[in-house]
Amino acid sequence: MKPRILVVGSSNTDLVVKVPRLPSPGETVLGGEFASLAGGKGANQAVAAARAGGEVTFVARIGDDAFGQLSLEGLQKEGIHLGHVVMDSHHPSGVALILVAADGQNSIAVAPGANAHLSPADVHRAAPAFRTAQMLLVQLEIPLAAVQSALELAAHHRLPVLLNPAPAQHIPNEWFPHITYLTPNAREASALSGIEVTDPDSAARAAARLRQKGVPHVIITLAEQGLVVDAPRLHKHLPAFRVKPVDTTAAGDVFCGALAVACTEGRPLLEALRFAQAAAAISVTRFGAQRSAPTRAEILRFLEDRARESQRPQPGTTS
Ligand code: RIB
Repeated sequence: MKPRILVVGSSNTDLVVKVPRLPSPGETVLGGEFASLAGGKGANQAVAAARAGGEVTFVARIGDDAFGQLSLEGLQKEGIHLGHVVMDSHHPSGVALILVAADGQNSIAVAPGANAHLSPADVHRAAPAFRTAQMLLVQLEIPLAAVQSALELAAHHRLPVLLNPAPAQHIPNEWFPHITYLTPNAREASALSGIEVTDPDSAARAAARLRQKGVPHVIITLAEQGLVVDAPRLHKHLPAFRVKPVDTTAAGDVFCGALAVACTEGRPLLEALRFAQAAAAISVTRFGAQRSAPTRAEILRFLEDRARESQRPQPGTTS
């Protein structure tokens, strides 16, 4: 049986330009390739979870326009259940303008369109999906009122919740005890904890503070510095897998989608985190958001390869 993951979140079309470096304010930089690609934090996480082995249901509001139809078709091809996606004929589908620099870093501006109109009523109409799901995966690229409804329904059905608090914003203190796994990046962890997160030590302090607010598993992702986890019997810094970055867009989304699947499968947290880190590492070696998410077979092969490499004798050592 595949783990059943319910994703409540956004869907965007990413309009992407590759640039040699990100421009400063007021500066024009001549770019290279332009691409129009499927994105949006919610949809990216849904695709990542489906490819990692999940049975995924997506709850969203998508503009009933050309971009929106393409997004929907892409999600359909992934086998994601879309019965609770509202096609909105009054608002355009979400669009993200993305610059990707040669070192893989990006900057993103989002016009949320229909995503900003996902309502508590939309979420409540998806109540049957909360009854059958095994985990709720949710982000902050939709109205907080919709997130709150999703948290309430999850609590009602005793569903574990993975909240990816992206993009960074303040969330009510009452939410924390309803979150099972919280996965901020450094910027988001700084905003939520009030501690500036720059490295594993400051991340460990921020994670401890967030746990005090009532979240049992806090995982702060630190890009090439790996991650810090603070959970019952697990306080650890896990280094990142070393890869050559092409595009870091959606690496956090791929991480969350894969983590939701691995945790729901009942893997121990440490193993689930390595699975999710492997998925994210593969994704940064590929261009684009949803298209960069690896399949389960690719994730497992990557982990096997890395395990084999780590057992190989290093130059200058004897076996
Ligand atoms: O997390 C990456 C995503 O953020 C992009 O796909 C873009 O659509 C924005 O939502």
